[in-house]
Amino acid sequence: MTSPSAFPIGHVSPEETEALIALWQACELTRPWNDPHADITLAKRGPHSTILVARDGATLAGSVMVGHDGHRGWMYYLAVSPAHQRKGLGRILVAAAEDWLRARGVPKVMLLVRPDNEKVRGFYDALGYQDEPRTVFSRRLDGAD
Ligand SMILES: CC(C)(COP(=O)(O)OP(=O)(O)OC[C@H]1O[C@@H](n2cnc3c(N)ncnc32)[C@H](O)[C@@H]1OP(=O)(O)O)[C@@H](O)C(=O)NCCC(=O)NCCS
Repeated sequence: MTSPSAFPIGHVSPEETEALIALWQACELTRPWNDPHADITLAKRGPHSTILVARDGATLAGSVMVGHDGHRGWMYYLAVSPAHQRKGLGRILVAAAEDWLRARGVPKVMLLVRPDNEKVRGFYDALGYQDEPRTVFSRRLDGAD
């Protein structure tokens, strides 16, 4: 797994759950219709997904949720704390997620960018990601609106 010397990468621990959610909130990644506790529990439940974090001492500096569905790899909740942004940590977290998928034979990684997050496009451009025009259809299975 890719790991910078200054900010070691590892799997999030149960004790870090609230700090992880605070990081997501600071990065404006939480939404009222997604329960972050439930998202963490589901991602940590099986062998096909995990949540990687970058630590600055005891502080969570960044995160990425990564998993695969048996066909493609997906990244969610990529977050670098505002204090740690633009220092290369986002690039390192993406590389760690890519390594995790590569180790499991997954040939391609994908992610969704919300339409109100145009500013993140420059980041993915810098990492060599391509914008693939697609229409995404979805349906809630849990009864939520
Ligand atoms: C997106 C995010 C993870 C980037 O993390 P970061 O640690 O600041 O990014 P890095 O320092 O690793 O930057 C890597 C490259 O992307 C570029 N980059 C980063 N943010 C950028 C931006 N907003 N616009 C243009 N380029 C950007 C950097 O200049 C760098 O390029 P270089 O290596 O050629 O110099 C961070 O800004 C963040 O957490 N944003 C809020 C949450 C979010 O939007 N997550 C993604 C949801 S899809």
